[in-house]
Amino acid sequence: MSTDPEKTDDRDAGVSRREFIGVTGAALVATTAAPALEAQTTPTTNPPARPHTAIRLTVNGGARRIEVDDHWTLAELLRDHLRLTGTKLGCERGECGACTVLVDDKPVYSCSYLAVWADGKKVLTVEGLTRDGKLDPLQEAFIAHDAPQCGFCTSGQLMTAKALLSQTPRPTPAEVRTALTGNLCRCSNYNRIVEAVVAAGAAGPSARTQGGAQ
Ligand code: FES
Ligand code: FES
Repeated sequence: MSTDPEKTDDRDAGVSRREFIGVTGAALVATTAAPALEAQTTPTTNPPARPHTAIRLTVNGGARRIEVDDHWTLAELLRDHLRLTGTKLGCERGECGACTVLVDDKPVYSCSYLAVWADGKKVLTVEGLTRDGKLDPLQEAFIAHDAPQCGFCTSGQLMTAKALLSQTPRPTPAEVRTALTGNLCRCSNYNRIVEAVVAAGAAGPSARTQGGAQ
């Protein structure tokens, strides 16, 4: 009979304490090592690099050089990256005209025009219509004739009208309606919008030159 009480207890249980610690210790090592092994074997995936392009353009008279993701629309570039939020987004699929800006003096739907396409071009947004803190006479005419209601379509209407006045200085109501066909107004304030543009044309060349010169 052993004189070591500890050894006696171990043997009574059918396994020595040293054997027990050895077995459970190995199990613990195996358990904690398993996640590390898994982590090592999990393939590392980096997000794919997004194609991007450096473009140069003029925005409201200021030269810019900007890295753009190739999938950005011009509206995204203007609103989200240049903070020119006067350009509004309505349908985002080329139907409502709320996002209209001028690219090389022509109205375009900026929601449907890629930012990379503006490389080398000049862009005019509604923010560019003001000069030295003064509203463009076309904007003044919109106010005078209550053309904006909720105002959501207004910046797009203004930009299309601006392009019209630079080509047709004194448009008739019919010409204004035709030019603004691609700019929808959900407040249906068309008569006053047309009146405002006709009035701006009748007021003279100042309505056509401010904001457009870049
Ligand atoms: S938001 Fe661009 S056309 Fe409607
Ligand atoms: S003023 Fe409201 S959408 Fe035209």
